[in-house]
Amino acid sequence: MLTAVLGMQWGDEGKGKLTHLLARDADLVVRFNGGPNAGHTVIDRGVKFGIHLIPVGAFHPGVTSVLASGMVIDLAILREEFEAIAAHRGEPPDLLLASNAHLILPYHRILEDLEGSGARIGTTRRGIGPAYRDKAARAGIRAGDLLTPDRLQDWLSRRLDLLRFSWPNAEPIADLSASAMAARLLQDATPFLEAIGDASRAIRAAAEAGKTILFEGAQGALLDVDFGTYPMVTSSATTFAGLGNGIGIPNPPVDRRLGITKAYTTRVGIGSFPTELSGQLGAWLQERGGEFGVTTGRPRRCGWLDLVALRHAAALNAPTHLAVTKLDILSGMKELKLCTGYRLDGETIGEFPADDGRLARCEPIYETLRGWEESIGEAHELSDLPGEARAYLDRISEGVGVPIGIVSVGPTPEETIICGF
Ligand code: IMP
Repeated sequence: MLTAVLGMQWGDEGKGKLTHLLARDADLVVRFNGGPNAGHTVIDRGVKFGIHLIPVGAFHPGVTSVLASGMVIDLAILREEFEAIAAHRGEPPDLLLASNAHLILPYHRILEDLEGSGARIGTTRRGIGPAYRDKAARAGIRAGDLLTPDRLQDWLSRRLDLLRFSWPNAEPIADLSASAMAARLLQDATPFLEAIGDASRAIRAAAEAGKTILFEGAQGALLDVDFGTYPMVTSSATTFAGLGNGIGIPNPPVDRRLGITKAYTTRVGIGSFPTELSGQLGAWLQERGGEFGVTTGRPRRCGWLDLVALRHAAALNAPTHLAVTKLDILSGMKELKLCTGYRLDGETIGEFPADDGRLARCEPIYETLRGWEESIGEAHELSDLPGEARAYLDRISEGVGVPIGIVSVGPTPEETIICGF
């Protein structure tokens, strides 16, 4: 059985909780995109973790966690997370690092700061964009290069020469030394050197052997580098459409594709957000939902659920089921609004303009539904929910055209309704 967990919004949909839940039954958990820009909140046996890089399979014994070639890896962060989880579990997690996954190097973060991407497009400042750019420019260093230290140092010195040529007055770049950087990389990589290999072949073999594989997406469809709200996007393919390329398997036979959406919308950083609630209600949702970034601590902007954006995400992720998370946060709201269309330049449109400039001119058209008062954290089945909550879920499912398979009504694994997934 192959399952994929995919974000349907601008990230932070609650994928961490659900992948952690589904990873229990997996043989392999594969992350196929992004790097430490992602932030998954996971509660494992009562302990809360904010993890960024390591696939959530690392929390479960008997699961191999694969960092596939679509990712960019910061070894220092990977080592930190690996050691924290090893201490928590009492044994080290089993990892496989794709030899062709690119590394995030100290100069990637420096470049991001020199270029001001944090201020310009609100990036997480983890070196993501510059690392993917080096990959595309064929100037990157890959995990497999750690196995040939002489070549690693040679490539690093050539890369530094070029950087010094491009940034002659940048002190942080002048201060870098290829030999010190190589030594640090090899030191951070020590626990993983034997885990570097052909991830694509391992995933294919596991799929052919009928193993259970969970693909863990990072970020969400609206942050996809090609089909998201460009240029306010991340630098990788975040959708099911990109998964095959991120693992090197054409048309991967993924039986269950779970599209995760919050019961409302959030967005971190800069960029258009038609259903944003800027007043008291937005602040209330932010506070009540604990909407602060796991990676950067930045407050997340909050707004109504947007069916236009979700339909766009569904086209990219082809979900077999939706998972609606944080439904409990909406308890106590008198009424709820769902965005069903936009007004753009005097016309009504139902298609999502995946371009920040056009999206900025869109005004949402809303449908209003009744809210509910009751707290719902105790619900174990759909029938335990108030009628208004069920009506809200039904309208989402109808509006996106995808059945709902999971509803999350609280942060712990127990606070989950599995309905037909
Ligand atoms: P980058 O991925 O650090 O280059 O940031 C590009 C954009 O993606 C920024 O708006 C970030 O806030 C956003 N972003 C990247 N990763 C995540 C995530 O895991 N959750 C939410 N937003 C993210």
